[in-house]
Amino acid sequence: MVDRMNRGRSRRYVLKAGLHYGALSAVASLASGAIAACSRSIPTAETADDVSQAQPQPQPPSLTPACGDAPTPPQTAGPFYTPNTPERTSLREPGVSGTPLLLTGTVLRQDCTPVAGAWLDFWQADDDGAYDNTGFRLRGHQYTDDAGRYRLETIVPGSYPGRTPHLHVMVQTSERSPLTTQLYFPSEPQNQRDGLFQPELLMTVEATDHGQQAAFDFVVS
Ligand SMILES: [Fe+2]
Repeated sequence: MVDRMNRGRSRRYVLKAGLHYGALSAVASLASGAIAACSRSIPTAETADDVSQAQPQPQPPSLTPACGDAPTPPQTAGPFYTPNTPERTSLREPGVSGTPLLLTGTVLRQDCTPVAGAWLDFWQADDDGAYDNTGFRLRGHQYTDDAGRYRLETIVPGSYPGRTPHLHVMVQTSERSPLTTQLYFPSEPQNQRDGLFQPELLMTVEATDHGQQAAFDFVVS
């Protein structure tokens, strides 16, 4: 079952959609002799006829920050960070069980240019909500490629008391301030009971034949 949620889509996607919609709106307005509205505004019905003929319009979702907008919000590292993790793109290894999760994305500057060679350090709880605080199970760092992309193979973390399932990550570039934050899963009922949860940090997640596939773009300031 597809688990994608509209509000997990990036603001960049929505802005593109808004611009496209705005262009159509401008054409319609010119045809009727009306003054074209701002291309980014979402037109609204102004008369009874407009209302009766209006087609249902998608509601603006909660937005994941992307380039051109505010940087990705920081969050606490919490008490379970361990430095000097091994460099690896897969945290799946013997002894690690749970639903496979593939997370991909890009590290971007606010001007939308990708950051090559950005350092990303991931850590998370296991399927039962437990952290390995003596070793490096479900911990690892990697670097973005020339296009600013990263790829992490891991598992869906379990929840633990007071916390909805989440991934921890630090993002460090040579030119920007380090970012420490957490990523969340849409359609997770515990999100609303977690005081740290922020909808801006929702990944886009969909179920696949092999587990879950997620996406998130980091925007560094
Ligand atoms: Fe945590």
